[in-house]
Amino acid sequence: RLRQEEKAWKINSLASEFFQNVLLRNPGAEAARGYLISRGVTIDTIKDFNLGYALPEWDALIRFMRDKGIGIRSLIDVGLAVSNNNNKTYDRFRARLMFPINDSRGRVTGFGGRVLDKSNPKYLNTPETEYFNKSKILYGLDKARQHIREAGYVIITEGYMDAITAHQYGIKNAVASLGTSLTRDHGKLLASQTREVIIAYDADAAGIAAAVRGLDILQEAGCRVRVLHLSEGKDPDEFLRARGYEEWQRQVERAVPLVEFKLQMALEKYKNVSSSKDAILEEVLPSIAAISAELEKTEAIQMVASRLYTSFHAVAEELHRFYKNNP
Ligand code: UTP
Ligand code: MN
Ligand code: MN
Ligand code: MN
Ligand code: MN
Repeated sequence: RLRQEEKAWKINSLASEFFQNVLLRNPGAEAARGYLISRGVTIDTIKDFNLGYALPEWDALIRFMRDKGIGIRSLIDVGLAVSNNNNKTYDRFRARLMFPINDSRGRVTGFGGRVLDKSNPKYLNTPETEYFNKSKILYGLDKARQHIREAGYVIITEGYMDAITAHQYGIKNAVASLGTSLTRDHGKLLASQTREVIIAYDADAAGIAAAVRGLDILQEAGCRVRVLHLSEGKDPDEFLRARGYEEWQRQVERAVPLVEFKLQMALEKYKNVSSSKDAILEEVLPSIAAISAELEKTEAIQMVASRLYTSFHAVAEELHRFYKNNP
Protein backbone atom coordinates (compact mmCIF):
# COMPACT_ATOMS: atom_id res chain seq x y z
CA ARG A 1 0.00 0.00 0.00
CA LEU A 2 2.79 2.38 0.92
CA ARG A 3 4.53 1.61 -2.37
CA GLN A 4 1.36 2.52 -4.20
CA GLU A 5 1.10 5.76 -2.27
CA GLU A 6 4.73 6.59 -3.00
CA LYS A 7 4.14 5.90 -6.65
CA ALA A 8 1.19 8.28 -6.60
CA TRP A 9 3.31 11.05 -5.02
CA LYS A 10 5.96 10.55 -7.68
CA ILE A 11 3.54 10.66 -10.60
CA ASN A 12 1.64 13.62 -9.17
CA SER A 13 4.84 15.50 -8.57
CA LEU A 14 6.00 14.88 -12.15
CA ALA A 15 2.60 16.03 -13.40
CA SER A 16 2.82 19.12 -11.25
CA GLU A 17 6.18 20.03 -12.83
CA PHE A 18 4.72 19.43 -16.25
CA PHE A 19 1.69 21.65 -15.62
CA GLN A 20 3.88 24.42 -14.23
CA ASN A 21 6.23 24.30 -17.20
CA VAL A 22 3.25 24.60 -19.49
CA LEU A 23 1.90 27.55 -17.53
CA LEU A 24 5.20 29.42 -17.56
CA ARG A 25 6.38 28.65 -21.08
CA ASN A 26 3.79 27.17 -23.42
CA PRO A 27 2.26 29.52 -26.02
CA GLY A 28 -1.04 27.71 -25.44
CA ALA A 29 -1.10 28.95 -21.83
CA GLU A 30 -1.36 32.65 -22.71
CA ALA A 31 -4.97 32.84 -21.48
CA ALA A 32 -4.07 31.13 -18.21
CA ARG A 33 -1.21 33.53 -17.56
CA GLY A 34 -3.51 36.44 -18.36
CA TYR A 35 -6.13 35.07 -16.01
CA LEU A 36 -3.69 34.85 -13.09
CA ILE A 37 -2.37 38.34 -13.79
CA SER A 38 -5.93 39.67 -13.88
CA ARG A 39 -6.49 38.16 -10.44
CA GLY A 40 -3.30 39.72 -9.11
CA VAL A 41 -1.43 36.45 -8.54
CA THR A 42 2.31 37.15 -8.65
CA ILE A 43 5.03 35.02 -10.19
CA ASP A 44 6.46 34.31 -6.72
CA THR A 45 3.08 32.98 -5.65
CA ILE A 46 2.78 30.86 -8.79
CA LYS A 47 6.12 29.27 -7.97
CA ASP A 48 5.45 29.02 -4.23
CA PHE A 49 2.23 27.09 -4.78
CA ASN A 50 3.43 25.34 -7.93
CA LEU A 51 0.45 26.52 -9.93
CA GLY A 52 0.20 25.13 -13.43
CA TYR A 53 -1.97 24.80 -16.48
CA ALA A 54 -3.47 21.79 -18.25
CA LEU A 55 -3.69 22.49 -21.97
CA PRO A 56 -7.00 22.13 -23.84
CA GLU A 57 -5.82 18.87 -25.42
CA TRP A 58 -7.01 15.31 -24.92
CA ASP A 59 -3.69 13.67 -24.15
CA ALA A 60 -0.96 16.24 -23.45
CA LEU A 61 -0.20 14.71 -20.06
CA ILE A 62 -0.63 11.12 -21.23
CA ARG A 63 2.00 11.70 -23.96
CA PHE A 64 4.39 13.45 -21.56
CA MET A 65 4.13 10.57 -19.09
CA ARG A 66 4.52 7.92 -21.78
CA ASP A 67 7.90 9.46 -22.68
CA LYS A 68 8.87 9.12 -19.01
CA GLY A 69 7.91 5.46 -19.00
CA ILE A 70 4.69 5.94 -17.05
CA GLY A 71 1.76 4.10 -18.59
CA ILE A 72 -1.91 4.86 -18.85
CA ARG A 73 -2.88 2.38 -16.11
CA SER A 74 -0.85 4.26 -13.50
CA LEU A 75 -2.32 7.57 -14.62
CA ILE A 76 -5.84 6.21 -14.26
CA ASP A 77 -4.97 4.87 -10.80
CA VAL A 78 -3.91 8.30 -9.55
CA GLY A 79 -6.86 10.03 -11.22
CA LEU A 80 -4.90 11.97 -13.83
CA ALA A 81 -6.44 10.06 -16.75
CA VAL A 82 -9.90 8.60 -17.33
CA SER A 83 -11.20 5.95 -19.65
CA ASN A 84 -14.70 6.11 -21.10
CA ASN A 85 -17.19 3.42 -22.12
CA ASN A 86 -15.48 2.91 -25.48
CA ASN A 87 -12.16 2.30 -23.75
CA LYS A 88 -10.89 5.63 -24.96
CA THR A 89 -8.48 7.21 -22.50
CA TYR A 90 -7.82 10.91 -22.07
CA ASP A 91 -6.45 13.47 -19.61
CA ARG A 92 -8.84 14.21 -16.77
CA PHE A 93 -7.70 17.82 -16.49
CA ARG A 94 -8.02 19.84 -19.68
CA ALA A 95 -8.00 23.61 -20.14
CA ARG A 96 -7.75 24.15 -16.40
CA LEU A 97 -5.56 26.12 -14.07
CA MET A 98 -3.90 23.50 -11.88
CA PHE A 99 -3.53 23.65 -8.10
CA PRO A 100 -1.38 20.80 -6.76
CA ILE A 101 -2.67 19.64 -3.38
CA ASN A 102 0.10 18.68 -0.99
CA ASP A 103 -0.16 16.71 2.20
CA SER A 104 1.16 18.31 5.39
CA ARG A 105 4.66 17.09 4.51
CA GLY A 106 4.65 18.70 1.09
CA ARG A 107 4.02 15.60 -1.03
CA VAL A 108 1.69 16.09 -3.99
CA THR A 109 -1.36 13.93 -3.35
CA GLY A 110 -3.85 15.38 -5.81
CA PHE A 111 -4.99 18.36 -7.84
CA GLY A 112 -7.71 20.91 -8.14
CA GLY A 113 -8.28 22.30 -11.62
CA ARG A 114 -10.13 25.57 -12.24
CA VAL A 115 -11.79 26.64 -15.47
CA LEU A 116 -10.80 30.06 -16.80
CA ASP A 117 -14.37 31.06 -17.58
CA LYS A 118 -17.77 30.63 -16.00
CA SER A 119 -18.34 27.01 -17.03
CA ASN A 120 -19.08 24.14 -14.66
CA PRO A 121 -17.80 22.51 -12.61
CA LYS A 122 -15.70 25.48 -11.57
CA TYR A 123 -13.18 23.20 -9.88
CA LEU A 124 -12.52 19.62 -10.82
CA ASN A 125 -10.59 17.66 -8.23
CA THR A 126 -8.68 14.41 -8.11
CA PRO A 127 -11.25 11.74 -7.23
CA GLU A 128 -11.23 10.63 -3.61
CA THR A 129 -9.26 7.49 -2.86
CA GLU A 130 -7.84 5.80 0.20
CA TYR A 131 -4.94 8.23 0.18
CA PHE A 132 -6.55 11.27 -1.35
CA ASN A 133 -9.26 12.23 1.06
CA LYS A 134 -10.27 15.88 1.22
CA SER A 135 -11.58 15.53 4.74
CA LYS A 136 -8.03 14.74 5.86
CA ILE A 137 -6.31 17.51 3.95
CA LEU A 138 -5.79 21.17 4.70
CA TYR A 139 -4.57 22.92 1.58
CA GLY A 140 -1.44 24.95 2.24
CA LEU A 141 -0.65 23.32 5.58
CA ASP A 142 2.80 22.23 4.39
CA LYS A 143 3.70 25.90 3.87
CA ALA A 144 1.73 27.24 6.82
CA ARG A 145 2.94 24.89 9.55
CA GLN A 146 5.85 26.93 10.86
CA HIS A 147 3.90 30.17 10.57
CA ILE A 148 0.93 28.72 12.48
CA ARG A 149 3.26 27.99 15.36
CA GLU A 150 4.78 31.44 15.24
CA ALA A 151 1.43 33.23 15.05
CA GLY A 152 -0.16 30.95 17.65
CA TYR A 153 -3.25 30.38 15.56
CA VAL A 154 -4.41 29.03 12.23
CA ILE A 155 -6.79 30.68 9.80
CA ILE A 156 -9.00 28.25 7.94
CA THR A 157 -10.54 29.43 4.68
CA GLU A 158 -12.74 27.62 2.17
CA GLY A 159 -10.92 27.92 -1.10
CA TYR A 160 -7.64 27.47 -2.91
CA MET A 161 -7.58 31.13 -3.87
CA ASP A 162 -8.29 32.30 -0.33
CA ALA A 163 -5.29 30.48 1.10
CA ILE A 164 -3.08 31.57 -1.79
CA THR A 165 -4.00 35.25 -1.58
CA ALA A 166 -3.62 35.20 2.20
CA HIS A 167 -0.07 33.90 1.81
CA GLN A 168 0.66 36.48 -0.86
CA TYR A 169 -0.42 39.18 1.61
CA GLY A 170 1.94 37.79 4.24
CA ILE A 171 -0.77 35.93 6.15
CA LYS A 172 1.10 32.67 6.04
CA ASN A 173 -0.75 30.90 8.82
CA ALA A 174 -3.71 30.39 6.46
CA VAL A 175 -4.92 27.06 5.07
CA ALA A 176 -8.03 26.00 3.13
CA SER A 177 -10.47 23.20 3.85
CA LEU A 178 -11.36 22.93 0.16
CA GLY A 179 -15.06 23.57 0.57
CA THR A 180 -15.71 20.53 2.76
CA SER A 181 -16.84 20.84 6.35
CA LEU A 182 -14.23 20.34 9.02
CA THR A 183 -13.66 16.92 10.50
CA ARG A 184 -12.03 15.26 13.48
CA ASP A 185 -9.14 14.43 11.15
CA HIS A 186 -8.62 18.12 10.42
CA GLY A 187 -8.54 18.70 14.17
CA LYS A 188 -5.92 15.99 14.59
CA LEU A 189 -3.85 17.49 11.82
CA LEU A 190 -3.77 20.83 13.61
CA ALA A 191 -3.45 19.55 17.15
CA SER A 192 0.34 19.48 17.20
CA GLN A 193 0.64 23.01 15.76
CA THR A 194 -2.06 24.98 17.56
CA ARG A 195 -5.44 24.85 19.23
CA GLU A 196 -6.41 28.38 18.28
CA VAL A 197 -8.53 28.34 15.15
CA ILE A 198 -10.00 31.26 13.26
CA ILE A 199 -12.57 30.38 10.63
CA ALA A 200 -12.74 32.78 7.68
CA TYR A 201 -15.34 31.28 5.40
CA ASP A 202 -17.16 32.96 2.53
CA ALA A 203 -19.77 35.48 3.63
CA ASP A 204 -22.48 33.78 1.58
CA ALA A 205 -25.22 31.45 2.81
CA ALA A 206 -23.28 28.33 1.79
CA GLY A 207 -20.12 29.57 3.49
CA ILE A 208 -21.89 30.45 6.71
CA ALA A 209 -23.67 27.08 6.79
CA ALA A 210 -20.34 25.35 6.18
CA ALA A 211 -18.67 27.45 8.86
CA VAL A 212 -21.25 26.33 11.37
CA ARG A 213 -21.13 22.67 10.38
CA GLY A 214 -18.12 20.82 11.67
CA LEU A 215 -16.95 23.49 14.07
CA ASP A 216 -18.35 21.72 17.11
CA ILE A 217 -16.14 18.82 16.08
CA LEU A 218 -13.07 21.04 16.21
CA GLN A 219 -14.07 22.23 19.67
CA GLU A 220 -14.48 18.63 20.78
CA ALA A 221 -10.94 18.04 19.56
CA GLY A 222 -9.89 20.71 22.06
CA CYS A 223 -9.60 23.68 19.69
CA ARG A 224 -10.75 27.16 20.58
CA VAL A 225 -12.76 28.25 17.57
CA ARG A 226 -13.47 31.84 16.59
CA VAL A 227 -15.34 33.06 13.55
CA LEU A 228 -14.19 35.94 11.41
CA HIS A 229 -17.00 37.71 9.63
CA LEU A 230 -16.33 39.29 6.26
CA SER A 231 -18.52 41.89 4.66
CA GLU A 232 -21.47 40.80 2.59
CA GLY A 233 -20.75 38.41 -0.27
CA LYS A 234 -16.99 38.43 0.05
CA ASP A 235 -14.48 35.65 0.53
CA PRO A 236 -11.01 36.22 2.04
CA ASP A 237 -9.39 36.53 -1.40
CA GLU A 238 -11.81 39.26 -2.46
CA PHE A 239 -11.71 40.92 0.94
CA LEU A 240 -7.93 41.20 1.00
CA ARG A 241 -7.78 42.63 -2.50
CA ALA A 242 -10.55 45.13 -1.82
CA ARG A 243 -9.66 46.19 1.73
CA GLY A 244 -6.06 45.16 2.28
CA TYR A 245 -4.02 43.74 5.11
CA GLU A 246 -4.76 46.28 7.85
CA GLU A 247 -8.49 45.90 7.53
CA TRP A 248 -8.04 42.12 7.55
CA GLN A 249 -6.14 42.30 10.84
CA ARG A 250 -8.93 44.37 12.33
CA GLN A 251 -11.40 41.63 11.40
CA VAL A 252 -9.09 39.01 12.94
CA GLU A 253 -9.11 40.97 16.20
CA ARG A 254 -12.90 41.12 16.05
CA ALA A 255 -13.38 37.40 15.42
CA VAL A 256 -15.94 36.05 17.89
CA PRO A 257 -16.00 32.72 19.73
CA LEU A 258 -18.12 30.07 18.02
CA VAL A 259 -20.86 30.11 20.67
CA GLU A 260 -21.22 33.85 20.33
CA PHE A 261 -21.32 33.60 16.55
CA LYS A 262 -24.10 31.02 16.72
CA LEU A 263 -25.95 33.12 19.25
CA GLN A 264 -25.75 36.18 16.98
CA MET A 265 -27.14 34.16 14.10
CA ALA A 266 -29.96 32.73 16.18
CA LEU A 267 -30.82 36.20 17.51
CA GLU A 268 -31.05 37.50 13.95
CA LYS A 269 -33.18 34.55 12.93
CA TYR A 270 -35.70 34.70 15.79
CA LYS A 271 -35.72 38.46 16.39
CA ASN A 272 -38.03 38.31 19.45
CA VAL A 273 -35.73 37.12 22.21
CA SER A 274 -38.22 36.73 25.04
CA SER A 275 -40.59 34.45 23.12
CA SER A 276 -37.81 32.37 21.51
CA LYS A 277 -35.39 31.70 24.37
CA ASP A 278 -35.77 27.94 24.16
CA ALA A 279 -35.33 27.83 20.41
CA ILE A 280 -32.27 30.07 20.57
CA LEU A 281 -30.75 27.99 23.38
CA GLU A 282 -31.36 24.87 21.33
CA GLU A 283 -29.12 26.29 18.60
CA VAL A 284 -26.19 27.18 20.84
CA LEU A 285 -26.22 24.28 23.32
CA PRO A 286 -24.31 21.84 21.09
CA SER A 287 -21.45 24.32 20.75
CA ILE A 288 -21.34 25.01 24.49
CA ALA A 289 -21.37 21.28 25.15
CA ALA A 290 -18.45 20.80 22.77
CA ILE A 291 -16.16 23.12 24.74
CA SER A 292 -13.67 21.00 26.63
CA ALA A 293 -12.05 23.65 28.85
CA GLU A 294 -14.21 24.18 31.95
CA LEU A 295 -13.41 27.85 32.43
CA GLU A 296 -14.22 28.62 28.85
CA LYS A 297 -17.47 26.71 29.12
CA THR A 298 -18.46 28.68 32.20
CA GLU A 299 -17.76 31.91 30.36
CA ALA A 300 -19.90 30.78 27.44
CA ILE A 301 -22.82 29.94 29.72
CA GLN A 302 -22.50 33.34 31.36
CA MET A 303 -22.42 35.14 28.04
CA VAL A 304 -25.47 33.30 26.68
CA ALA A 305 -27.42 33.82 29.91
CA SER A 306 -26.86 37.55 29.87
CA ARG A 307 -27.70 37.95 26.20
CA LEU A 308 -30.94 35.98 26.69
CA TYR A 309 -31.83 37.91 29.88
CA THR A 310 -31.89 34.70 31.89
CA SER A 311 -29.87 33.21 34.73
CA PHE A 312 -26.64 31.25 34.65
CA HIS A 313 -28.50 28.50 36.44
CA ALA A 314 -31.21 28.26 33.78
CA VAL A 315 -28.69 27.83 30.97
CA ALA A 316 -26.64 25.34 33.00
CA GLU A 317 -29.79 23.28 33.61
CA GLU A 318 -30.53 23.15 29.88
CA LEU A 319 -26.94 22.12 29.25
CA HIS A 320 -27.30 19.22 31.70
CA ARG A 321 -30.44 18.14 29.92
CA PHE A 322 -28.59 18.36 26.61
CA TYR A 323 -25.78 16.14 27.93
CA LYS A 324 -28.31 13.62 29.20
CA ASN A 325 -30.03 13.41 25.82
CA ASN A 326 -26.76 13.32 23.87
CA PRO A 327 -24.47 11.01 25.79
P1 UTP B 1 -15.78 28.72 -4.02
O1 UTP B 1 -16.86 28.57 -5.03
O2 UTP B 1 -15.99 29.70 -2.93
O3 UTP B 1 -14.49 29.02 -4.86
O4 UTP B 1 -15.49 27.29 -3.42
P2 UTP B 1 -13.26 30.01 -4.61
O5 UTP B 1 -12.23 29.25 -3.84
O6 UTP B 1 -13.71 31.30 -4.07
O7 UTP B 1 -12.71 30.13 -6.09
P3 UTP B 1 -12.60 31.38 -7.03
O8 UTP B 1 -12.20 32.55 -6.23
O9 UTP B 1 -13.91 31.55 -7.71
O10 UTP B 1 -11.54 30.95 -7.99
C1 UTP B 1 -14.63 27.09 -2.32
C2 UTP B 1 -13.83 25.81 -2.51
O11 UTP B 1 -14.71 24.71 -2.68
C3 UTP B 1 -14.17 23.75 -3.57
C4 UTP B 1 -12.79 24.29 -3.96
O12 UTP B 1 -11.82 23.75 -3.08
C5 UTP B 1 -12.96 25.79 -3.75
O13 UTP B 1 -11.72 26.45 -3.58
N1 UTP B 1 -14.96 23.61 -4.81
C6 UTP B 1 -15.77 24.62 -5.25
C7 UTP B 1 -14.85 22.45 -5.54
O14 UTP B 1 -14.12 21.53 -5.17
N2 UTP B 1 -15.56 22.33 -6.71
C8 UTP B 1 -16.36 23.33 -7.19
O15 UTP B 1 -16.95 23.20 -8.28
C9 UTP B 1 -16.48 24.49 -6.42
MN1 MN C 1 7.55 30.09 4.96
MN1 MN D 1 -18.26 30.04 -1.74
MN1 MN E 1 -13.06 33.29 -4.44
MN1 MN F 1 -15.03 31.57 -2.36
